[in-house]
Amino acid sequence: MQTILVANPKGGSGKTTLATNVAGWLAGKRQKVVLEDRDPQRSSADWLARRPPLFPAIAGVPAGVSRKDVKALDPQWLVVDSPAGLAGEALRDAIRAADVMLVPITPSAFDTVATHRFLTQIAEYKAIKDGALAVGLVGMRIDARTHSAADLDVFMEASGFPVVAHLRVTQVYIHAARDGASIFDLPRSRAEQDWEQWRPLTRWIARQAPVKA
Ligand SMILES: Nc1ncnc2c1ncn2[C@@H]1O[C@H](COP(=O)(O)OP(=O)(O)OP(=O)(O)O)[C@@H](O)[C@H]1O
Ligand SMILES: [Mg+2]
Repeated sequence: MQTILVANPKGGSGKTTLATNVAGWLAGKRQKVVLEDRDPQRSSADWLARRPPLFPAIAGVPAGVSRKDVKALDPQWLVVDSPAGLAGEALRDAIRAADVMLVPITPSAFDTVATHRFLTQIAEYKAIKDGALAVGLVGMRIDARTHSAADLDVFMEASGFPVVAHLRVTQVYIHAARDGASIFDLPRSRAEQDWEQWRPLTRWIARQAPVKA
């Protein structure tokens, strides 16, 4: 089982959007996926509850589920959606259990300052220092025409972590979230541009942790 942790303690940075879409992408690749919602707000658990039964299956487990119970489901992938404010022992434990970590960041000074603090902190963790845990940054809600998007790029490039994707701001994510869908469940006519933007991200994940058929 490969574990993908989606984390950024800054609220609203895009964790649930990223986690649900990563889970949807893997499920669409016929991978056996478990989505663990560590957030008491239960946004990804609610998304799963809205997911139409005919879509590629994703199993859900609540926060605090034991490793043993997750393993009993025998998934190929565990995607962990973490809560805002994740810190201390909970962060340490989540990082220890992860094989890949994605950090979503939104273009705003509030987000970059908070994320900078977070990245500086986790850079000291042994697994990250040693390169045992790959950490990839994902720009979220990007409007490429704006100064703030350019500022975010400068920030991400300077962070020392790889920038694995830029995802545009679009109602496609909002509507998909409402419908229990990922962008990978949508017809090509609606989501082709977004699939394109996900390509470097899915390739990067597959390089860190092979997607076995
Ligand atoms: N690319 C995007 N385009 C448009 N809206 C987006 C995009 N990404 C995220 N959003 C919206 O931004 C809001 C915050 O995203 P999300 O809920 O994924 O963040 P979060 O980090 O999980 O928040 P929290 O810290 O509260 O758990 C949501 O309303 C989501 O639908
Ligand atoms: Mg969330």
